[in-house]
Amino acid sequence: MPFDSKLQRKIMGQFATGVTVVTTGEGADRTGLTVSSFTSLSLDPPLILVAIDNRSTSRDDIRRNGSFAVSILSVDQEEASRKFATPGPKDFSAFAWKTAVTGAPILEGSLAWVDCRLHSVLPGGDHEIFVGEIVAGDAAEQQSPLLYYSGKYRRVTE
Ligand SMILES: Cc1cc2nc3c(=O)[nH]c(=O)nc-3n(C[C@H](O)[C@H](O)[C@H](O)COP(=O)(O)O)c2cc1C
Repeated sequence: MPFDSKLQRKIMGQFATGVTVVTTGEGADRTGLTVSSFTSLSLDPPLILVAIDNRSTSRDDIRRNGSFAVSILSVDQEEASRKFATPGPKDFSAFAWKTAVTGAPILEGSLAWVDCRLHSVLPGGDHEIFVGEIVAGDAAEQQSPLLYYSGKYRRVTE
């Protein structure tokens, strides 16, 4: 018997995460999606990973471009999280963004970001694990993160 997927969601909902926007592409081909499954994987070489749903429309773009950027959202970027959590083409005109090495858009105002070359793609059931090799990145000082916990956006209140 497979484990109850509703219970798995409930269990994983108790794991508080940050929120990122994963982007790829240049010009009219820019796209992206909201992702919380962002993890540091290796320091040497410098690798991170994200798990992307097989139904994601951005997934094939990342594979085709061979690169992606991850913007770690601040508490002021809930709107970006909501917009990039909508399936299909993404409208970047509402956001300020910049590029680094690969050309993937990086959202201005993010807490931190990494720009990655696609290192490998591993199977992961109904998701795929995209491993990125960091080619550029930076972190801001003293900002507050956007959090996601138990199905809701949260903020740090210490
Ligand atoms: C807080 C939050 C975290 C999410 N994390 C992921 C994730 O880790 N992986 C994923 O594939 N989708 C995740 N999603 C869902 C995608 O953002 C959503 O399915 C999006 O519409 C995909 O866009 P696309 O189909 O255009 O690629 C998350 C959504 C939210 C709101």
